[in-house]
Order: sequence, then structure tokens, then C-alpha cells
Amino acid sequence: MARRSWAEPFKIKMVEPLSMTTRAQREAAIAAAGFNTFLLRSRDVYIDLLTDSGTAAMSDRQWAGMMMGDEAYAGSENYYHLEDVVHRVYGYKHLIPTHQGRGAEHILSRMCIKPGDFVPGNMYFTTTKAHQELAGGRFVDVIHDRAHDSTLEHPFKGDIDLGKLRALIDKVGATKIPYLCVQCNVNMAGGQPISLANLREVRALCQKHGIRIFLDATRAVENAYFIRQREAGYAGTSIAQILLEMCSLSDGCTCSAKKDSLVNIGGFLCVNDDDLAEQARGMVVVYEGLHTYGGLAGRDMEAMAIGIEESVQEDHIRARIGQVEYLGQKLIDAGVPIVRPIGGHGIFIDAARFLPHIPREQFPAQALACALYVESGVRAMERGAVSAGRNPDTGENIFPSLELVRLTLPRRVYTQAHMDVTAESVIELFKNAPKIVGLKFTFEPRQLRFFQARFAPVVGSRVLVSEAAAEPVGAKQCCCGGGGCGGRARV
Ligand code: F0G
Repeated sequence: MARRSWAEPFKIKMVEPLSMTTRAQREAAIAAAGFNTFLLRSRDVYIDLLTDSGTAAMSDRQWAGMMMGDEAYAGSENYYHLEDVVHRVYGYKHLIPTHQGRGAEHILSRMCIKPGDFVPGNMYFTTTKAHQELAGGRFVDVIHDRAHDSTLEHPFKGDIDLGKLRALIDKVGATKIPYLCVQCNVNMAGGQPISLANLREVRALCQKHGIRIFLDATRAVENAYFIRQREAGYAGTSIAQILLEMCSLSDGCTCSAKKDSLVNIGGFLCVNDDDLAEQARGMVVVYEGLHTYGGLAGRDMEAMAIGIEESVQEDHIRARIGQVEYLGQKLIDAGVPIVRPIGGHGIFIDAARFLPHIPREQFPAQALACALYVESGVRAMERGAVSAGRNPDTGENIFPSLELVRLTLPRRVYTQAHMDVTAESVIELFKNAPKIVGLKFTFEPRQLRFFQARFAPVVGSRVLVSEAAAEPVGAKQCCCGGGGCGGRARV
């Protein structure tokens, strides 16, 4: 039996009761939510693994910091504390606070991207790409191909393919590339890190062509942890030092503080360039708030400053990623197909392999997230074709190579027992996978469609059919209702 090598490096001071629901209640709730887990009410959820964003439990020190909020419109003490901490931990020269990560993405995109530009990055992230496109740019994926293979074990699946980046520079010219966006611990690839060796090579290539690099530092601390674990020469280096080295290879960053930084709201933009900083401060007052609060209360900035310091503590990060590994290993042991190696912020179930009977056009990951909720009350998130949206030129659905369901672990919130229950629920569902039914859109928003889209099962009214219900339908029809599944799955 595998040994649990660590326990949570905290004890519990306050508890929040969880709601327990019946299966019938959950079936009604998911139907009312249009078969979209984003539209469920949280009171109907038992274990909420929708996201690790803004869901962390703050420490007693952070809560104490909230009481020290200096709610001055201008020049709040908390801003100066945050500026000092960001400077020490991330190393950049200028800090522009924003209400969350996408506020920083908006400002960076609007400042730097001109219509017709190309913005390369190591796999897209939904809001990042949306802001690049709204500014008139085009996102170009330059992540190494191995990131698209969920079964491949590689320590740095977030690495950039230098050949792809070079080819883009040759094709469109460096002047059409305002910056390269390097995402740390690539979210849509399954929380996979980029290596320092790769980042150094990428930096050299970009410098040669005068292309700036901005990190999406949202999960940079988790990336630093993997560098320490996996990259030669870093076993004895602290997480804090590795993080500084990563940031030193870029010109600035956007960051959602709702992840690594252990707060429920907040974000920031950092730049080293003085002129760019001045421009960003000009924009932040229009879209977020004065440059010394950027849409945040003083107390939020204080909690963020303390959270950033806690985020790079060794005990914290080891337990944080250790918990993800604990859940992932249980699923691997049971044969559940998940993205390998286990990532930093969650477990990504390969829905295409979990549900081979559901064609991509019927959104297997969306269906799986809904079925898991019905089965157990655990809320997960689709990260596949629904999230990828449509090709802006052709209007066709984009079918990314990864069709995933993300079980995202909030930081310091759930215990190992919750992980056990989650693993048991997923494993039970895996045994019953053929009973899961594909989905079709009934409402499709134009921007970031996954947040508010609504769906219906392709046959019947339920996403997870019971054996009793399965018989009469299955006798006549396949899962997609039209033979698109090859008739493999009877529902
Ligand atoms: N970049 C990455 C890599 C992210 O994962 C997110 C948010 C953002 C930027 C935007 O930050 O939400 O503070 O505006 N990710 C959340 C998630 C929504 O669930 O993965 P935000």
C-alpha cells in the first residue's frame, strides 16, 4: 500500500458545512442548469472541484491582514505592502494591481496588440485568447506537440517548440509579434510545467528578434515546484529562488492572484519597462480603478500580499501538489484515463477515452462533468471542445486534441477524505461509463461560450441513465440518436 508521506501543514480553525443532496435533487439541478456545471448553484454541490480560482482557504494571518485594510482611495498602505512583496517574490519593477487576472490580460492586450498581429503562446487559455482576439490579434499555439498527447509521460509538457516559434517569426515577421505569452503550468494541457532550460532558449530566440516575453504567472509557483522536482540541477534550490529565475527571463507578467496567491479575488500586471508601466497606469484608471488599488479594496491587497508570501513556503506547496498527486494516483491505480503525468492544480480526466461511445460532436467532456455531478455531487469542469469555441474564420467548432474534464483542487480547502470520496465516485462512474449520454447545444453564447452555454441530452432527458431506464431506449437507439457513435453504445 502506498504510504501517505505528508499530512496537511495546517489545522482547521473554522468549518463550513457541506450540503448533501439526493440523486433525484441532483438530476433536477443539472437539468435546470442546462447541463452546464457553471450554471449550478453552489448550494447544490457537495465537493466543489470546478476550479482552483478564488476558492482557496485564507490563513489566519491573511484574515488578520483583512482587518488592516487601509481603504484610502489613493496611496493605500496595503498597496505599498503588496508592491514590496511582488517585487521581492516575482522580481519585476512595476506593479499594476487589477481586480483579477483577466483585468491584467485586458490591459496588456490593449497596450501591445495591433489588429493583424500574432500572439504566440504555449497553448491557449480561454480569457487570455479572448482578450488577444478582442484587441485584433490572433493566438498561435507554439506548445510542443507532446502536450497534446494525454498518455505521454514527459516532465515538461508545457515546453515551447522552438521550431514552431521560429516558423511563425519567419512567416509573419517579428514586427507582427508584439510579445510571446508563456503560460506557467499550462492549464489546458493538464497543469503541465515549462522547464527553465526551455525558457532560456526561448528567451534567447526572442531577444534575437526583439520580441518581448510576458509570463502568465498565474500558476508560476506550482511550475517552480515541478522544476525543483524534475529539472537537473535544481533539487537543492528553493521554490522562491526558482520563481525569481523564471521571472527574470521575461519582461513582465499577467497574474490571476486567485490561484497561487491564495486569495479569493485579485490579480496584477507587472512590467519592467518604464514607458509600458506609464501606459498601463493610464489604462488601469479607465478600466479597473486608480493605479494604487486597481479594482481591489485595501483589505484585498493586504490578503494578497500575505498570500503571496505563504505561496512560496515549502510546506505549503509540497502539500498542495501532494494532494493532487494523492487523488491522481488513486485514479491511475483504478485504470481511469487521466492526463499524465499528474499536473499541479488538478486531475484532468481524458473524456474521449473515458467515453469512447460519445462522438466529439456530442461533447463527451461536458457530458462526463454532468454525469459525475449526478452520480456524486462532485462538481468538475469541461476543458475540451466547448471551452475551445469556434474558429473565427470558418465558424466551425474547434476540436482540440484534448477533450478533458478537470477536477480542480482548491488550495487548503478539502481533506484527503474528500479526495477518497471523489476518487471512489469517479471510479464508480468509470464502471458505468456506457450509461452516459452525449449532449447538444440549446443555447450558445458568442464569447467564452462554456461559461453560460446550455445543453440537452441527445436522447431522452437525462445525462446518466439508470439500467432500468436504459433498456427501453437502448433497444431502439444508439447514444447519439443518429448512429454517429457507430452504434457502439446502447443507452
Ligand atoms: N490565466 C490562466 C492560466 C488561468 O487559469 C486563468 C483563470 C486566467 C489567466 C484568468 O484569471 O480568472 O483571475 O481572470 N482560470 C480560471 C480557471 C478561471 O478556472 O482555470 P482570472
